[in-house]
Amino acid sequence: MKEINDREKIVKLFMPFENEVFPLRNRFVRAATWLGACSGEGRATPLSLSRQIEAAAGGAAAVITESAYVSPEGRALRRQWGLDSDDAIPEVRRLSDAVHAVGSKLIVQLCHAGAAASYAASAYSPSGGTYPGYDKDTIAMTREDMSKVCRDFAAAAERARAGGADGVEIHAAHGYLLTQFMSPLLNKRNDEYGGSFENRLRAAREVYDAVRQAVGDSFSIWLKLSMTEGVPGGYGPDEGIDAALNLLSCGVNVLEVSSGTGYSAPRHAPSVVGVSAGDSEAPFAGYAAAVKSKAPKNSLVLLTGGLRSLPVLAALLEEGTADLFGISRPFIAEPDLINRWAEDDARPSACISCNACLRTAGGGVIDCPIMRERQEGEWDPL
Ligand SMILES: Cc1cc2nc3c(=O)[nH]c(=O)nc-3n(C[C@H](O)[C@H](O)[C@H](O)COP(=O)(O)O)c2cc1C
Repeated sequence: MKEINDREKIVKLFMPFENEVFPLRNRFVRAATWLGACSGEGRATPLSLSRQIEAAAGGAAAVITESAYVSPEGRALRRQWGLDSDDAIPEVRRLSDAVHAVGSKLIVQLCHAGAAASYAASAYSPSGGTYPGYDKDTIAMTREDMSKVCRDFAAAAERARAGGADGVEIHAAHGYLLTQFMSPLLNKRNDEYGGSFENRLRAAREVYDAVRQAVGDSFSIWLKLSMTEGVPGGYGPDEGIDAALNLLSCGVNVLEVSSGTGYSAPRHAPSVVGVSAGDSEAPFAGYAAAVKSKAPKNSLVLLTGGLRSLPVLAALLEEGTADLFGISRPFIAEPDLINRWAEDDARPSACISCNACLRTAGGGVIDCPIMRERQEGEWDPL
């Protein structure tokens, strides 16, 4: 991985990012991170709110919330946030007020889990059957079901806007419903939603159109996409990159480049284990570069996944790989990471990419070894 140690180039990461699409105070974004802190009914709690806000206070220019389900049948995770009712509007308001108060912006991530809706009574999917790793049978979606999904995304986006968010992000990554439609493995339909690449992408495009119609042209719509399904027989990077460009040309404002699903080979997984500063950093940078090189001028590319050190980030910015950089696990270990970097402590993130956070989030108490050591007063990454 190329690294740049030139201070002037590193400083560019922290300079205000003036652009017509989405001006920001720097290039760092807290990527969506579910931390299992909502109530069992999907309501925000003081803990779930503070876990979102702390990254903004820690210097991130924008915070993408944990993924929020748009309907009960689209709920994937334990203690996940729900944007399926107007009860969520004051919760978004509390978040946006707090995030704005520290100079950051708020993006609410919206998700329908489809076949991966393990916390729903019944799960829907493009063509029925089971989801890899789950034994629960799913219901094949009708066109009316698809229209409901579009309406649910649109209504949730309107709630986010009503609560003062600066934008929404459609979660079309990581094996949830919109990935399932894109997947030649999971989508066996023979109508206009299945078969060809254009047909498999139709669900994501329709959801985008419905959200755009609901929120208008001036509201920012981001979309997170896995560039590869990361499994034999699934879609690969060529289709992932084409899908990204296609969605940007439809009007998506910010395309977040991610990879993989819950059933991918480990090296393609969204949260790659064992990434460390230097060589194994930025595993999805090649995908972002491919998207950025052909992206429409009035759009931005956000690269997320295994970003850990300033010299690598400076090189990615210098090379024009992406406009923005998304960080998830390092903010769990050190919510104040960006401020630390800005204040001249340029050591890489202390995160060891062990995924203890991911394994334990469902219990509501995150077990991050780095966070634990800091709280116990023993933290010394040197
Ligand atoms: C505990 C945990 C929860 C996550 N929750 C979400 C989520 O709600 N939505 C999402 O798009 N990605 C989620 N991710 C994936 C991250 O946003 C990110 O894509 C991935 O972890 C790679 O970035 P990192 O190396 O900086 O952690 C989660 C990851 C972790 C570790």
